[in-house]
Amino acid sequence: MKRRAFLSGALSAATATLFARHALAQAADDTMHAMHAASATPAMPGNTMHPPEALAAADALPAGAPLAALRALANESREPGQFRATLVAQPAARALLPGRPQTVFWQYDAGSALHSDGPVIGPSIDVREGDTVEITFVNRLPQPSTIHWHGLPVPPEQDGDPSNPVAPGERRVYRFTLPPGSAGTYWYHPHPHMLSSEQVFRGLAGPFIVRAADDPLAAWPERHLFVSDLKLAADGTIAANGMMDWMNGREGQFVLVNGARLPHIEVVRDERWRIWNGCNARYLQLAFDDGRAFTQVGTDGGLLGAPSEGVTALLLAPGERAELIVRAGQNASRASLIAAQYDRRKMSMSHGSLPPGPTIALANVRFAPGSATQSALPARLRDIAPLGASGSQTPPKKSVVFTEAMDMQAMHAPGASTQPMPRGMQFMVNGAVFDPERVTLASRRGEVEHWMIGNATDMDHPFHLHGTQFQVLAREQGGVRQEEELLAWRDTVNVRRGETVHIATVQHEAGKRMFHCHILEHEDLGMMGTLRVS
Ligand code: C2O
Ligand code: CU
Ligand code: CU
Repeated sequence: MKRRAFLSGALSAATATLFARHALAQAADDTMHAMHAASATPAMPGNTMHPPEALAAADALPAGAPLAALRALANESREPGQFRATLVAQPAARALLPGRPQTVFWQYDAGSALHSDGPVIGPSIDVREGDTVEITFVNRLPQPSTIHWHGLPVPPEQDGDPSNPVAPGERRVYRFTLPPGSAGTYWYHPHPHMLSSEQVFRGLAGPFIVRAADDPLAAWPERHLFVSDLKLAADGTIAANGMMDWMNGREGQFVLVNGARLPHIEVVRDERWRIWNGCNARYLQLAFDDGRAFTQVGTDGGLLGAPSEGVTALLLAPGERAELIVRAGQNASRASLIAAQYDRRKMSMSHGSLPPGPTIALANVRFAPGSATQSALPARLRDIAPLGASGSQTPPKKSVVFTEAMDMQAMHAPGASTQPMPRGMQFMVNGAVFDPERVTLASRRGEVEHWMIGNATDMDHPFHLHGTQFQVLAREQGGVRQEEELLAWRDTVNVRRGETVHIATVQHEAGKRMFHCHILEHEDLGMMGTLRVS
């Protein structure tokens, strides 16, 4: 499916582009009425919206196993300061549903062997600041792919963006050196043009940790929770995206932690948790079901300046990560780690918004404190200098605005939902869908800028910028401006409907960088722009 065909189909339809939710709902109702009036015979499948594909039951996957450890990607280099390995993206079958054919995922494997049990999640890459990383990527998928190093400050041509695809059967080497100050919790995933959402929902994503020599929490026991989403058809296949998945971003019936449903975690002493939201579109309002507090110590780009104590809920938008301190407590207890209800205002095909989804249990935790006393957290974790606070010059401003346009007639047209890409939906940045040939914004390297990311749509979108970490300055909504309290490094930030998020950002290398909504379906549909750095 070519972008051009998609666009001309959408633009030539009778309905003008519609921004307002009520107008959208109205158009849907009109379309429905027209269809009812016109069809004396029962609608053919594909003539109206497809009935949703029959899905596996929400409890079809086993639950309650101990949290699986993620695989580690072994370093094939013996040289100090070098990390060298191979990642092969290839199909891999897993027996998931009893009595059904195996489910074929796409997964990242180390070069040596196909890994055929345990979490599908890509092997964990664990390196140090200063290391030179050399990853040979082998594409054994039926589609072009890339590996994008989400959040890492790697050179533009090494960042696996859509302009550098690796064809099926081909390979390439990604090579970069991680600078001092880059310690943090990152991830990697494919980023090919218009195919990222599918490749990630089929299983391609993995964690990437960079460690600092002077990490004040180095001695703390660590636990890694990589959260992903799985939409499984009743026949055991990974379901294709339907119209609703494209519109709101795909959410499956299963939310997995390290590849499994509702794992069991045993906390016997205070721990440092790193949590990744590797879901295509699901928002994770992290909390414990008994309301117990935890401490946030880090964001995407590493540790905070100081621990943020007493947190009872933490929103991780798709693509975001956090580091937490979870205490064993004084007495034995149990709690579930949950994704509490969060209303991101998902759209409906016919009547405004969908209600927010239910609270979902992610993991069951048993707290069984040993005799060891509570570990003390340092009052300061590291120094974070406010970006752009030095100097008297006001930084140059840039504006990024997310918009959407829904053409309900095109969306309800015959066959619309059976297309590889849906018709009638546009998700845009600064008034346009992504065009690989177009530069959306231009910056100069080393120059701190103030970006305003506005969301003129009816639903939340997580903004993500490649190649750097930024600082959120403030959030503005309905004329009320709220200064950001946490001084933190991030590469992804949620922008609520009607909100404008102010960030300070700087790029350090010349070249092209992407910025986009990290709901991967929206990214694929073109809610992405190119920043040219010179
Ligand atoms: Cu995690 Cu451009 O993406
Ligand atoms: Cu990225
Ligand atoms: Cu979006």
